[in-house]
Amino acid sequence: MKSTLKLMTLLFSLLLMNCGGKEEKKKEGFSYEKKSTTEQTLKKEDAVPASKKISLNNKGVGPITSIDLSSEIDQEMATHGADVFKKMCTACHRADKKFIGPAPTGILERRSPEWIMNMILNPEGMVQKDPLAKELLIEFNGSPMANQNLTQEEARAVLEYFRTLK
Ligand code: HEC
Repeated sequence: MKSTLKLMTLLFSLLLMNCGGKEEKKKEGFSYEKKSTTEQTLKKEDAVPASKKISLNNKGVGPITSIDLSSEIDQEMATHGADVFKKMCTACHRADKKFIGPAPTGILERRSPEWIMNMILNPEGMVQKDPLAKELLIEFNGSPMANQNLTQEEARAVLEYFRTLK
């Protein structure tokens, strides 16, 4: 009797592993098996809001295809970037807390420098074509990132300023 039960549990678990996510959820209570790690990470990822997702290989869509960041922060450029940010971005962004848009503090740990610059220079294209930017727009209830018509040089300076926000 006991071994039949064990066998049934095993078969049942195998069945669950083969089934889609929904099925799994419904029957979760019956299964003694630990969920496989891939399933766990998938679920975890789903729960992370777009603004907190780490996506360092995504360069986004727009004019910037490659940037080499120097190991040292260029303080002069960062100061210029801070000025641009203050003038053009603080209507919607605060450096260290969520406002109309997300806070840029620590953004380089979540996004590639190219993605960040493309988001600044080409937010319309990003929201249409970049999966992460699309998700971000949903997370922020459809309020879009504004194109402030920065030059590439200004956007690059803002990026340098973002590097100082940790
Ligand atoms: C009118 C409001 C508004 C202005 C002005 C604005 N933004 Fe945004 N920004 C947003 C919103 C809302 C989002 C998130 C939703 C989205 O991306 O559609 C966002 C997203 C971003 C992101 C992506 C953040 C992340 O964590 O992934 C960056 C980078 C960004 N903005 C930079 C800037 C910079 C730099 C400026 C100034 C040149 C600026 N924004 C001006 C509203 C604004």
